[in-house]
Amino acid sequence: MDQNDYGYGYFVTYPDSKEGLVERENVEVSEDTKKVYKRFDYFVTLTHGIGITMLVLNAFYFGTSRGGFTWNGHLRIYQQGFINFHGFLMTAGFIFCQGEALIIYRVYRYEPKNVTKFLHVALHLCSLACAAVALTAIVKEKVMTTNIQMYSFHSWVGVIVISMYCIQFIVGFFNFAFPRTGYKVRSWIMPGHKWVGSLIFKLSAANVLMGHQGYACFGIDQWCNPLHNCPKNMGIVLNFSVISILFYAICVIIIITKKNWSRRITNDEKEHDE
Ligand code: HEM
Ligand code: HEM
Repeated sequence: MDQNDYGYGYFVTYPDSKEGLVERENVEVSEDTKKVYKRFDYFVTLTHGIGITMLVLNAFYFGTSRGGFTWNGHLRIYQQGFINFHGFLMTAGFIFCQGEALIIYRVYRYEPKNVTKFLHVALHLCSLACAAVALTAIVKEKVMTTNIQMYSFHSWVGVIVISMYCIQFIVGFFNFAFPRTGYKVRSWIMPGHKWVGSLIFKLSAANVLMGHQGYACFGIDQWCNPLHNCPKNMGIVLNFSVISILFYAICVIIIITKKNWSRRITNDEKEHDE
C-alpha cells in the first residue's frame, strides 16, 4: 500500500479474479482533514502507550499478588490464583481487546471495509475468549472457597455486561458479518450498534474498576504469597494499574466519540454499494 503524491489518500492493491491486480485510491481526503488525522495519529499512539502500560502493570500486579498466576485448588482462601486469572483476563479482554476492536475502524481507515470488519470481529472474539476463562476462574474460586455466588454489585453488573456483549455480538454477526437482513434493517440497526457498543465498553470499564476495589478490600498484607518475597510499594503499583485502566478507557471513548475522527466511506465500499 502506497501513500499518493497529491493528497492523503492511499492506493490499496488487491487481487481481482478476472483482471489480475488492480491499483486504486481507496479514500479521498482534503488537506484540512489530513491535519485532523495527524492529531488523531498522535492521540492513537498515546492511547496505545497507555494500553501497553496498563497490560504490563496489571500483569505484574496480578502475577505477584496472592499466589500469582496459578491454577491450584489446594492453597488457602484467595491464594489459588484463580482470582488473578479473573482480574487480569477481564482487564486484557474486556478493556484492551474490546477497546482495540472499537477503535480499529478509525485506525485502519484506509483499508477495505472487509479487512477492518474482520479485525473488529477477531478482536471481539479474543475478548469473549478471555472473558470465558476469567469467568470460569472466578466461579471455580467461589466453589472451592465460600460457595456463595453472585452476592456483590460487581458480580451483577458483570453478568449484565457479559449478556449485553453476547447479544451485541450475535446481532452484529448476523447483520454485518454474514448479513441475514436487508439493507434498510442494517442501516436502522447500525446507529444502535454503535451506541450500545460504546455503552457496553463504558460499563465494562466501570465494572473492572469495581472489581479492583473488591480485590483490594481484602487488605494489602494478605496479597503476597508467604512463600514469595512480597515486592514493596504494591499499593503504588495498584494505583497506577487502576489509573492506566481509567485513562485507556477515556482515550478509547474520546476516539470513538469525536465526529471528525470517524471513518469515511472507502472507494471499495462505494463500488460494493452501487
Ligand atoms: C460479529 C460481530 C460484529 C460485527 C460484524 C460488527 C460490525 C460493525 C460494523 C460494520 C461497524 C461500522 C463501522 C463503520 O462503518 O464505521 C461497527 C462499529 C462498531 N461496533 Fe461492531 N460489530 C460486531 C460486534 C460488536 C460488539 C460485540 C461490540 C460491543 C462492544 C461492537 C461495538 C461497535 C462500536 C462501538 C462501533 C462504532 C465504532 C466507530 O464509531 O468507529 N461491535 N461494528
Ligand atoms: C468487565 C469485567 C469483569 C466482569 C464481567 C466480572 C464479572 C464477575 C462476576 C460475574 C463475578 C461473580 C462470580 C460468582 O459470584 O460466581 C465476579 C466476582 C469477582 N470479581 Fe469480577 N469481573 C470483571 C472484572 C474484574 C476485575 C478486573 C477484578 C479485579 C481483581 C475482579 C474481581 C472480582 C472479585 C474479587 C470477585 C469476587 C467477589 C465478588 O463477587 O465481588 N473482577 N466478577
